[in-house]
Amino acid sequence: MHVESVASGQTVCVTGAGGFIASWIVKHLLERGYTVKGTVRNPDDPKNAHLKELGGAKERLTLCRADLLDFQSLKEAINGCDGVFHTASPMTNDPEQMVEPAVKGAKNVIIAAAEDKVRRVVLTSSIGAVYMDPKRSRDVVVDESCWSDLEFCKNTKNWYCYGKVVAEKAAWEMAKEKGVDLVVVNPSLVFGHLLQPTINISTLHILKYLTGSAKTYANSVHAYVHANDVALAHILIYETPSASGRYLCAPHVLHRGEVVQILYRLFPQYPIPTK
Ligand SMILES: NC(=O)c1ccc[n+]([C@@H]2O[C@H](COP(=O)([O-])OP(=O)(O)OC[C@H]3O[C@@H](n4cnc5c(N)ncnc54)[C@H](OP(=O)(O)O)[C@@H]3O)[C@@H](O)[C@H]2O)c1
Repeated sequence: MHVESVASGQTVCVTGAGGFIASWIVKHLLERGYTVKGTVRNPDDPKNAHLKELGGAKERLTLCRADLLDFQSLKEAINGCDGVFHTASPMTNDPEQMVEPAVKGAKNVIIAAAEDKVRRVVLTSSIGAVYMDPKRSRDVVVDESCWSDLEFCKNTKNWYCYGKVVAEKAAWEMAKEKGVDLVVVNPSLVFGHLLQPTINISTLHILKYLTGSAKTYANSVHAYVHANDVALAHILIYETPSASGRYLCAPHVLHRGEVVQILYRLFPQYPIPTK
């Protein structure tokens, strides 16, 4: 995907800037001339050092200490920004660590954005907030109108998807109440080159086939997208005034058998499962 820059010279905030997807968003924003305020929980943590090495970072990137549960810290980071990319979220299946921070964080970001009159908030939700619904007919094409079923997520203890649904819904409600222009990206499983030095959860999906910890693969399909494309989608949505609602980012659907074949072609020296 190629995106023409239409809005360089602006200041934007990226929450959870040191994370996998957010690092790609920060990289592209800097390349396009934006000034970026990236929130991290600890600016001195070496795991965020890669951000300072990105092109343009020395001149136009500031790291702000902020936590999703701390409204004031987010407000300070968002202060003076034209737009916000709200990407930070817990990535866990523990209900206590997942649900409240995700929901409270989404609400805090929208309220702070409203108070600062930002032009637009782009929220990173997930396909997990979209497709988990066993009652949906197999003939129905999953699109942006679909929502995961909360009862199903709860009954199957899928607290990550549950948290992404309630956080996205809370963001929509708060945006409506406060008059904030919110647009949402719902990516499928995201892969690609890691800009950060730590391993994120979606990368483990592949790593388990390379380390030998997965001896077999599941007989199922998944949708995948490259981190570069997800980052560019966020920026395209921010820069396109007519963009609205939700945008699924799920360009490739592969069976696990195809995934391991691709891995074998690229890395034949690793213990990749054959069945
Ligand atoms: N990766 C995927 O396949 C995928 C697919 C669909 C949607 N998403 C969504 O994309 C976003 C980023 O995912 P990712 O894969 O890039 O994950 P990641 O690398 O784990 O990044 C998550 C970021 O959120 C921050 N964070 C977590 N809890 C926080 C809190 N209480 N306060 C402030 N920051 C907090 C983390 O900061 P610390 O470094 O301080 O922990 C980290 O920077 C998430 O919203 C996720 O749900 C990801």
